[in-house]
Amino acid sequence: MILVTGATGQVGSALVRRLADRGAQVRCLVRDPRRLGAERVRVQIALGDLTDPPSFRNALRGVGTVVHLAASGRDQLGGSIEELNAIATWRMVEAAERAGVERFVFFSALGASTHHRTRLHRSKALAEQVVADSSLQTTIFAPSMLYAHGGRWLGVHQRMGLLPVAPMSGLGRARFQPLWAEDAAACVMAALDRDGAAPERADLAGPETLTHEAMVRRAARGRPVLPVPTPVARALLRVTEAAMRSTAPATWDEAELFEVSMTTPRGSAAVEALGVRPRRMGEVLRALG
Ligand SMILES: NC(=O)c1ccc[n+]([C@@H]2O[C@H](COP(=O)([O-])OP(=O)(O)OC[C@H]3O[C@@H](n4cnc5c(N)ncnc54)[C@H](OP(=O)(O)O)[C@@H]3O)[C@@H](O)[C@H]2O)c1
Repeated sequence: MILVTGATGQVGSALVRRLADRGAQVRCLVRDPRRLGAERVRVQIALGDLTDPPSFRNALRGVGTVVHLAASGRDQLGGSIEELNAIATWRMVEAAERAGVERFVFFSALGASTHHRTRLHRSKALAEQVVADSSLQTTIFAPSMLYAHGGRWLGVHQRMGLLPVAPMSGLGRARFQPLWAEDAAACVMAALDRDGAAPERADLAGPETLTHEAMVRRAARGRPVLPVPTPVARALLRVTEAAMRSTAPATWDEAELFEVSMTTPRGSAAVEALGVRPRRMGEVLRALG
């Protein structure tokens, strides 16, 4: 049995579809099963929340492999970014060890370090340490920017598609190697297939290096890009988050992630070593229509 957390997210939904197509036994730890869409009839459902560790115990019963994707780049009512990413991962690893799990696949973030500028990268660095120090057989994936139709980044730009301009926080100079969530899911499948021969750590980067501005230009489909000065964007997003809480369309913590480069000099080598040929963002966006 494979437990997938974050099964309703960009990578999780692509992964669960692939696992279910193959007839694998899959259990999904979810807050709201409706968000699994059509897949909810092909998987076991364990209701749970990163802020509710007792829910992990239930979800882990009879599980051999955990793919821990659930994470949050924004504070939630039940927990801060640090609690949702670092502390929840620590508790998930502890619960997995106690439940007799063998393998643990974890998604960190490229460049995660305890000195990083963003809260998400700092909390992922702590989580990585916990995973690496565990007694489980582990694989840590460190992705650059991930995108999917309707996902957190592309979805915001798709929803703003009726505006005459495409607003962008800051000057958009930070550089990324964007990877389509489907290609990231293919990497997880390859690692699961390789079992003991899977890498302990792999960067997940796409085939090209693009600035944030170049990515926004691709998502904007010909509309001019409007850079919003960082202090203005930060103030506007903080006010929006204070007023709308978890329903805010975007938060400063999320926007800040696009102010710091996420690249590896090895490019997509680790992805290709897993037998996956990652697609370019322009190619994917054209195919998505
Ligand atoms: N997206 C990127 O650019 C990027 C870059 C580097 C690293 N990563 C990491 O890669 C992994 C996969 O990313 P992704 O883009 O597929 O993520 P995503 O689309 O943002 O999905 C996040 C998932 O986590 C779940 N989740 C959030 N809060 C939860 C909570 N309190 N309890 C239980 N589940 C919760 C969400 O469930 P709901 O449907 O209930 O919200 C969703 O399934 C994550 O660990 C992420 O941090 C992503």
